[in-house]
Amino acid sequence: MSKQNDVIVLGIFVADLAFYAPRMPVIGETLAGSNFVSGPGGKGGNQAVASARAGASTGFITRLGKDAFGDTGLKTWAAEGVTPFADITEDDPTGAAFIFVNDETGENAVIVVPGAAGGIDGAMVERYADEIAGAKVFVTQLEQPVGAALRGLEIARAASVITVFNPAPAEAFSDAIFPLCDYITPNETEAEDLTGIKVDNLADARRAGDALLAKGVGTALLTLGETGALFHSRDVSELIPAAKIDKVVDTTGAGDAFNGCFAAALARGEPPLRAAHFANIGAGISVTRAGTAPAMATYGEIIAKLKADAS
Ligand code: ATP
Ligand code: RIB
Repeated sequence: MSKQNDVIVLGIFVADLAFYAPRMPVIGETLAGSNFVSGPGGKGGNQAVASARAGASTGFITRLGKDAFGDTGLKTWAAEGVTPFADITEDDPTGAAFIFVNDETGENAVIVVPGAAGGIDGAMVERYADEIAGAKVFVTQLEQPVGAALRGLEIARAASVITVFNPAPAEAFSDAIFPLCDYITPNETEAEDLTGIKVDNLADARRAGDALLAKGVGTALLTLGETGALFHSRDVSELIPAAKIDKVVDTTGAGDAFNGCFAAALARGEPPLRAAHFANIGAGISVTRAGTAPAMATYGEIIAKLKADAS
């Protein structure tokens, strides 16, 4: 019998192909870049690695092609100690993401093609119901079809598993999802998409948080980039300032770092606000490194930085 994981992530795995340049080329133009990094990616895959590095026993439900990119996923999880619950198909290739990284600011733009993981559906999630129901925390996003996310959240909720829903990328979904979320973790643009409130400052973020609470979520946890994160529940609304870092290298996957670290801390039994502080530091460390999954911080690194920033 396989060991039960404390955190189960449902999502996509793709190969990230990141190109560093001073700006995006315009149509018809070829531009010389300054760096290229390829490696494991996909929001779900990144969150699973972040959770495992942050100390939680982690399983990942996904779908891969039988190809070199799929092998990268399997090798990554073996190295990181993530338990794969991966359906492997010969019908579709593993997906890939084109990532532009501004080599001055670390900001990014992404095109993601989910490939085989685009075939994850409710019936597939159902087959992993025992793994979800036996976890402490369940995490999902919106890169795979929304019906699969919904089914995972329903299974988790029915089993009283803590649910973390990262509504990324911004995709339409049924209002039935909100009450299934113990935590919803949009960034500023996703929060605007979900609430119609443009998030330009803390007051806006709090109004967007209120709107999400009114839709039925337990707690809204808005990630605010270099500003940090807003933990907004019915009892407490606290801005968690971003980690103090020297240089932003690559912000791609910062949201994934946050979600994975948050889930790991919740699974360890940390109080939610403390778990959010831990996640905020884990995400801050990730932006100082190139790549997505490879940039995730370890438990020891996060604890050391939490202490350093507090002193
Ligand atoms: P991505 O889509 O690139 O994964 P995102 O837009 O989902 O990112 P952000 O809100 O930009 O997520 O960032 C997530 C978290 O990462 C923030 O809440 C913060 O904790 C951390 N972070 C991001 N940028 C910085 C920064 N410049 N300095 C310190 N921490 C940062
Ligand atoms: O959140 C970052 C991720 O989004 C990248 O790893 C890329 O694969 C896209 O899915």
